[in-house]
Amino acid sequence: MIDLLRPLPGDLALDVATGTGNTAFALAPLVRRVVGLDLTREMLNVAKRLAGERQIENADWVIGDASALPFPDETFDIYVVRAAPHHFPQFEAFVREAFRVLRPGRDAAFVDCAPPTPARDVLHEVEKRRDPSHVLSLTVEEWRVQLEAAGFEVEMARSRELDWDYQEWMDTMRVPGELAAELATVIESSKGQARDQLHPERRSGKLFHAYWHCLIRAHKPE
Ligand SMILES: C[S@@+](CC[C@H](N)C(=O)[O-])C[C@H]1O[C@@H](n2cnc3c(N)ncnc32)[C@H](O)[C@@H]1O
Repeated sequence: MIDLLRPLPGDLALDVATGTGNTAFALAPLVRRVVGLDLTREMLNVAKRLAGERQIENADWVIGDASALPFPDETFDIYVVRAAPHHFPQFEAFVREAFRVLRPGRDAAFVDCAPPTPARDVLHEVEKRRDPSHVLSLTVEEWRVQLEAAGFEVEMARSRELDWDYQEWMDTMRVPGELAAELATVIESSKGQARDQLHPERRSGKLFHAYWHCLIRAHKPE
């Protein structure tokens, strides 16, 4: 993500839905200042504590909503969001806001889960029941349409297929065993093209299947 963005030492960067600050911390040594924004105060409290422990002094933490950013137009040289847009109920507003706060001539990077259809339809049921705050994962093609509609030029948009450890994924949300077993069946009983894409398999009894992330760089024209 950092390579993709080509940050400059004088840049002001915005990391939307920063969570505990992972992307903001990666950007901090490379830019003038980074702002980490998140809807959840508890996440920002952890980010602040970690920033103190790591002696990162050029980061600010702001409570806010990705779809109504509390910043004037054309404030930031870099906009990033990672592993969060699938939680956003107002996707169009989020993309519009990304475009609005970015300075013309600069870039935004978007990383999120992005399974292809029809695997997305199978995973959607699993995702919603694993984490009720999941709204929708867009495909790479859907991302492109949304970003171009907001005025971005999509310079790079690709999806990366990952080998997914199902139980580890369930454990990060502390999904009860019974529900995890039921959702494993949803994946393992998938049919046709969805099954070809997901290619679920058991290795030493553990379920693995495919999962996808998108990596996108979008440019705001001058
Ligand atoms: C899976 S975490 C991702 C954290 C971080 N970007 C990372 O890569 O480690 C998702 C984050 O999105 C935040 N979030 C969800 N909806 C949001 C919204 N509408 N505006 C801002 N943040 C939001 C959550 O509070 C959470 O911290």
